[in-house]
Amino acid sequence: MFRNSNTLRTLNLLRKMSSKIENDYLIQTKAFINGKWTETDDKFAVTNPSTGDTIREVTNCGVSDFNKAIEIAHDAFGTFRQTNVRERAQILDNIYNLMLENKQDLAKILTLENGKPYKDSLGEIVYSAMFFKWFAEEAPRIYGDIIPSAVSSDQKIFTIRQPLGVIGILTPWNFPSAMIARKLAPVIATGNTCVIKPAHETPLSALALGVIAEKAGLPAGVCNILPTNHTSEIGEYVCEHELVKKITFTGSTKIGQLLMGQSSKGKNIKKFSMELGGNAPYIVFKDADLDRALDGIIGCKFRQSGQTCICANRIFVHEDLYDEFSKRLVDKIDKTFKLGDGFQDGVTHGPLIHDKSIDKVASLVQDAKTKGADVLIGGSRASSLGPLFYQPTVLGNVTESMDIFYEEIFGPVAPLIKFKDVDEVIKRANDTDVGLAGYFYSQNISTIFDAAEKLNVGMVGVNTGEISEPAVPFGGVKNSGLGKEGSKYGIDDYTELKAIIVAP
Ligand code: SIN
Repeated sequence: MFRNSNTLRTLNLLRKMSSKIENDYLIQTKAFINGKWTETDDKFAVTNPSTGDTIREVTNCGVSDFNKAIEIAHDAFGTFRQTNVRERAQILDNIYNLMLENKQDLAKILTLENGKPYKDSLGEIVYSAMFFKWFAEEAPRIYGDIIPSAVSSDQKIFTIRQPLGVIGILTPWNFPSAMIARKLAPVIATGNTCVIKPAHETPLSALALGVIAEKAGLPAGVCNILPTNHTSEIGEYVCEHELVKKITFTGSTKIGQLLMGQSSKGKNIKKFSMELGGNAPYIVFKDADLDRALDGIIGCKFRQSGQTCICANRIFVHEDLYDEFSKRLVDKIDKTFKLGDGFQDGVTHGPLIHDKSIDKVASLVQDAKTKGADVLIGGSRASSLGPLFYQPTVLGNVTESMDIFYEEIFGPVAPLIKFKDVDEVIKRANDTDVGLAGYFYSQNISTIFDAAEKLNVGMVGVNTGEISEPAVPFGGVKNSGLGKEGSKYGIDDYTELKAIIVAP
């Protein structure tokens, strides 16, 4: 397409060798329903965003397949909820071990369908596996309370946590393994069952998790995984289904709002947890350690080519540090980044996922340029690599007049904004209708506590740009969602708290 044919042939050969999957049974193209791999006549293509090549044709499930899977999960709940918690913990531990044993293959599948560099995919697989380990350890510690009665000293009040039933899991393409792991692990820990609709861009990582879960001893029907590209129809169907007791969704705010409305339309009101879009501020205060702030921004802004909900979206730099910060950031990008196919040696950043994503990034950059932003590096598509590659970009002198200040970029663009004082920057950072993550760098203890409390977000990184791990209660405020995933609180959203009042 854009390279000469000899170069293309060599690249394809190299790609094939480096992406060879040892245990090819991990590549599944059928739906996983009731512990069986089930095929339908309808199929859809999964493509590699780096090359545009079709990786596999997978089963395209429709409404009747989802209905069947939900009924099966409902039946399986009757027995799975009775299993001893230690048995469920053992299955979670088995999944953890199997994921680590197969991490290279799982990472290759992930890079093939998502495009992120192989090293990042390996990191995601380990991150995913850690959720299974975490919830293997949480499962036996789902405690209740004994509460003194307010009306009688004889009356005793107890609370217990009970599972909900069938959970509908709807996941995105940016972390095709981790976003399922963070939901599936507490489902198993609490004795629920589930039906998973993975993103149609990245179903292979989800189906590979099905293979692992099966090998780990998860009983049939507990976890059903159904690929489909009838995204909106199936989303609505699962949300409205009477037997589904909770929906958990990770994705955009717009779709989250839509699904939440649909979930209240069916015959029962459902529990709902969702992790939605962000517009994270990254603030470099006057007393920041500049080296650390520069190291932090590389991962925090450019991980997964900027396609994460917790990516730094607006980078506020104190006016005294602004020139040095911007110069050194541009230099780092210039010297250390390599854009390309995730299987090629030395590649640090891959493509965006869609035409729509790259078009949005290009239009935000264009709008900022028109309104006075300076392009310090990048600023356009890297079309010689393929249609979905965008150059890592730094924009200087960004202001509130530009769309990029308010919109989630979901691409490799770092907008730099100058500020003068603490109160001013906190006010500007909070001037957005979402609040997932926020970050700042300061060595002043008063600024640290003040800013951490005042930033209107669900998670704050202080002197770090890396906040993702299983022990962190992951979730946002405002239009960034509801509920927490991971951590000791990650059990709450998957259980109902029941009060038992015992009279004398
Ligand atoms: C996300 O982008 O939604 C998740 C990022 C993470 O878990 O690190």
